[in-house]
Amino acid sequence: MSSNDKNQHFEWDSAGKATFDGHDLAELSDTHPTPFYLVSVGQLVDNYRRFREAFSMVEGLKCYYSVKSNFESVVISTMRKEGCGAEVSGALDLELARRAGMKPENIVFDGPRKTEAEIEEALTMGIHMIDIESMTEARMINEIAGRLGKKVNVGMRIDPSLAKPYYDKVISTYKKKFGYPIDQALTMGVAINGLPNLTLTCIMTHIGSQVFTPSRYLTTLDRIFELIADFKKHNVEIAEINLGGGYPAQSMRNMRLSRRIRLAKILERFGRLEADVKSIDEFGQAIGNHFNQLCRTTGLKPQLSLEPGRCIVSSATLIVGRIEILKNNWLFTDISINDIPENLFFSEWRLVVPGTRPDATVTEYNIAGPTLATQDVLYFEKEVPEPKEGSPFVIMDIGAYSIARSNQFTRPRSAVYAIDQEGTLKLVRRAETVDDVLRTQIWDDVVESDESASERKTG
Ligand SMILES: Cc1ncc(COP(=O)(O)O)c(C=O)c1O
Repeated sequence: MSSNDKNQHFEWDSAGKATFDGHDLAELSDTHPTPFYLVSVGQLVDNYRRFREAFSMVEGLKCYYSVKSNFESVVISTMRKEGCGAEVSGALDLELARRAGMKPENIVFDGPRKTEAEIEEALTMGIHMIDIESMTEARMINEIAGRLGKKVNVGMRIDPSLAKPYYDKVISTYKKKFGYPIDQALTMGVAINGLPNLTLTCIMTHIGSQVFTPSRYLTTLDRIFELIADFKKHNVEIAEINLGGGYPAQSMRNMRLSRRIRLAKILERFGRLEADVKSIDEFGQAIGNHFNQLCRTTGLKPQLSLEPGRCIVSSATLIVGRIEILKNNWLFTDISINDIPENLFFSEWRLVVPGTRPDATVTEYNIAGPTLATQDVLYFEKEVPEPKEGSPFVIMDIGAYSIARSNQFTRPRSAVYAIDQEGTLKLVRRAETVDDVLRTQIWDDVVESDESASERKTG
């Protein structure tokens, strides 16, 4: 897995030494309680710069980092220093963006149900855009804007109604709940624009996550440009297209079907399983050039905005744990599905056993976490090089939707460390204690132990 890619901050050499920005992961697992997350700021910056470079042909491109994909302070602050804005989806994200020093004009607010308090806060701050998902919400924003004496520019989220990819039928159906289907967008948009305190200026969409090829974005752009032309006929001037996120993390192993099912394993044997994930450069080229061409052919000049998350943070964070128990074909690690709860149907995290060579002899194991949850299984039938109880154990590419979604089912959450661009390792989130988890729990005033209760009864 050692790579010649100069943007790759992880190395696993032929002697078995695995490093992240030069830090030996086996050594770190001996000196720091496992499991812990580890963020490479250098990898984060390289991923973002590569993303910007890929879209460099688009004049005036704006990027809003999707805060929910990884909400660590170091990640959001790094994005701000790189000149990136923030896409927030609620009060928590909004506060994180503010603490990271994001300017209000560099913040956009998405989500299907925003509260009155959140909307009031966003309008008072004067953020760049609230993307509306329903008429109920449009009326609420209109009312609050009126109360604040403001007339505000708003966006509307649309669903471009793309054909469902055959490998993604279930998730595509879930996504139908967001925004308005494109065939209703004109009517809804004209109605939103007709509210006295709102001006519709942006069409926003988000077509999925870890999207394999750019072609789906090109069809989306075609449909949005047609819609903008229709709006123009109704005197509604759309000045911005926000294409959302979804650009793929390159380092993950991508599959069209879950390897957990037998068919997927058969397809894999015949070399038919792995999807050809296009590079970020190819995404940028295809989407950016298509956007420019649509501007030329239609004469429309909207500004393009993007909301990347996963492709920026995924390879910039890994989690370090330990192999704890080997039992039959089961390997138990101290890394739990609590720490990396995202259910990856179509992609797989890379796995590394520091201290073993990348080409070492492998044994197949089902890999489980330490909790009593049945679903606490990280991999099925996964090849593990030279498995030994006590060895360090690393899962790569978990920067997206892991820390922010981690939970406390039967144990407190893990610590987060970051390696800054000078190569210094720093704690950026301490491990939770049992007291931290219980702090918000409310008990009766007097807690009687079993012992004193039985003493009282017998006495
Ligand atoms: C509205 C919106 N924008 C952006 C993103 C970021 O997507 P990704 O991490 O796949 O780039 C998401 C993720 O769910 C989203 O819902």
